[in-house]
Amino acid sequence: MEVIIQPSQETASVLAARMIAKVIRSKPEAVLGLATGSTPLGLYRELIRMYREEALDFSAVTTFNLDEYVGLGPSHPASYHRFMHENLFSQINVRPELTHIPDGLAPDVPASCEEYEAKIRDAGGIDIQILGIGSDGHIGFNEPISSLASRTRIKTLTPRTRADNARYFDSPDDVPHHVITMGIGSIMDAREVLLLGFGAGKADALAAAIEGPVSAQVPASVLQLHPKAHVLLDEGSASKLQRSEYYRYVYDNKPVWQLVS
Ligand code: F6R
Repeated sequence: MEVIIQPSQETASVLAARMIAKVIRSKPEAVLGLATGSTPLGLYRELIRMYREEALDFSAVTTFNLDEYVGLGPSHPASYHRFMHENLFSQINVRPELTHIPDGLAPDVPASCEEYEAKIRDAGGIDIQILGIGSDGHIGFNEPISSLASRTRIKTLTPRTRADNARYFDSPDDVPHHVITMGIGSIMDAREVLLLGFGAGKADALAAAIEGPVSAQVPASVLQLHPKAHVLLDEGSASKLQRSEYYRYVYDNKPVWQLVS
């Protein structure tokens, strides 16, 4: 696990975008795993800027989103279909037919989850997966005690996650109880993982994920077992780490050939 502490959310987001751009430039038909929520917004803004100003080409890129609320259609203002359209897809040259998001209105949820897994496999697997982290340590919507081997399936949100996400809905009661999420096993299959976490509100979850034991109680801790996981933090989210000086030292002394420019 590589822990990179940046001065701000903005600088971390720019660095994350460069890491994604590096994957796309070396493999134009790259498969990206995408997240929603407030965390990746700066990263998406930077990718859009790179598309406009640096000719970053998404025309052959395939995307798979982590999750969607059960019961919300693509036009619902709080759906992740709508989020992705507004915050990324409508502003770059990705081909709509190569973008995938779990179907919140699927009549047969288990069958649609199996189909989602098959589509990821058929696309050749995910090259780089973007993740945020919940204040309870979730990745995707794999809440605490999710199986560390889980695949795409329906999950019940914790009351804490429903409260955290109430800001996107007219009323807290409107937040669905259920979601479809890629599993932890699905996420771990990605060839590279980029976990972003910003602000003091994520500091406890990140300290547990990075420095605590690997445990289903803190789903993000499973990334300690991933062969190529990077964690990008700002000063606030890094504030509870015991070994932050070491992480800074490692990054400051990184061999030049390993740096993303
Ligand atoms: C979203 C997702 C979630 C969020 C997490 C953090 O697709 O999978 O795990 O990344 O809940 O949300 P924000 O970024 O809104 O704090």
